[in-house]
Amino acid sequence: MSRLMRVGLVGFGAVARVHCAAYKSLSAVEVVGVTDKDPKQIDEAKNKFGLPVFPTLEEMLRVASLDIACVLTPAATHEKVVGICAAARVNVLCEKPLAVSVEACERMIAACRVAGVRLCYGASYRYLPALVVAREMIRNGELGRVLIIREYAVGGCGVDRRATLSDAHYPKGGPGGSGMGLVDHGIHLIDAFGWLLDSPVIGAQGRGNITGQPQGPEFAHLEYANGAVGQLLYEDGTYPTDLPQEGTFGWAGGWSVGENTVDIRPGAWQSHPGCIHVHGTHGSLRIFHYANIMLLRDKHGICQVRLPDQAFPSNFGLQLMAFANAIQSGGDTPVPGEVGLDACRTLLQIYASRNPPKIEQKDGASRYIRDLIK
Ligand SMILES: NC(=O)c1ccc[n+]([C@@H]2O[C@H](COP(=O)([O-])OP(=O)(O)OC[C@H]3O[C@@H](n4cnc5c(N)ncnc54)[C@H](O)[C@@H]3O)[C@@H](O)[C@H]2O)c1
Repeated sequence: MSRLMRVGLVGFGAVARVHCAAYKSLSAVEVVGVTDKDPKQIDEAKNKFGLPVFPTLEEMLRVASLDIACVLTPAATHEKVVGICAAARVNVLCEKPLAVSVEACERMIAACRVAGVRLCYGASYRYLPALVVAREMIRNGELGRVLIIREYAVGGCGVDRRATLSDAHYPKGGPGGSGMGLVDHGIHLIDAFGWLLDSPVIGAQGRGNITGQPQGPEFAHLEYANGAVGQLLYEDGTYPTDLPQEGTFGWAGGWSVGENTVDIRPGAWQSHPGCIHVHGTHGSLRIFHYANIMLLRDKHGICQVRLPDQAFPSNFGLQLMAFANAIQSGGDTPVPGEVGLDACRTLLQIYASRNPPKIEQKDGASRYIRDLIK
């Protein structure tokens, strides 16, 4: 890279710390500014992490000469924050979900286009080495024709410990629920499944939680143009059924649901590691995407697939570098905002397939869901 890229972080909560951990090892980028609307977080960025801080976003944009602003604030704020960055002519990397209405996503894309800046969607799963290798294997035909791709995240510590996100993240009446539910976590898979399969989604149905309403299990049934079927099943208000010995030692660290921080050490035993299953006509994959371990089963038996040692949280660094390289070289934005728009549209289609009649009887929130899809 010909010159150091100057990066600013907007929002210094849980995910910002992960971005920082990943960016530390990058020699081509420098975090030259952090801002947050909460002064306590600004203090932490300055005193614990030794980062340059700014009291407001506007001040950071005016003073810090940013090449990229990383928008790491709750989904409900993304449209406003991205709009301010675009108006200041700064390229944006925006965390998932891009927004929780199709119209908001479209306005964000338009604001960046009009300002002549790039909008990159934070699809961090696309940079997890296990998923990169799985995608190559699928494209090379090593699994034959993929029939089913699925992720079930069912567990937790009972209903009282359900990690429901506040309406600061997901406003009342719209998609919401747990940090391991459809809108906040499943949005990764809604994007990653189609990307892994290299096939667009042609049908989406299911059920998702609404902020302010009683929460329950969520599911999605996805159909792809190539005939594959995708399934998501989420609930963290119960207990896992895996036996202790069914976990794995992780090559990489990971998230701990509830704490929402990187507190699983690389090499530690993970009893319920995040796991994606891909079933093809000639082979199947069990992908522990955060633990950075992948198992192939085919007619020869079962084997462990070698993966690059660039596991979590390096995927956030790889994501930023891909964007920075594209800006410097004039190449295409690696994962443009339109990808986030597509994921949002599919998510809302899942909601609309089941939720409107149910919600309409209660408080009219179904009209809100329908409006979000238009
Ligand atoms: N890629 C991933 O794997 C991943 C993981 C976790 C979270 N996320 C995404 O990252 C984003 C942030 O999530 P989080 O868990 O860090 O949330 P968080 O609540 O821990 O942190 C958000 C921070 O943003 C600040 N903030 C809110 N509004 C702001 C504004 N207008 N201007 C400046 N600061 C503002 C808050 O004070 C808070 O410190 C969300 O979009 C979430 O979905 C992505």
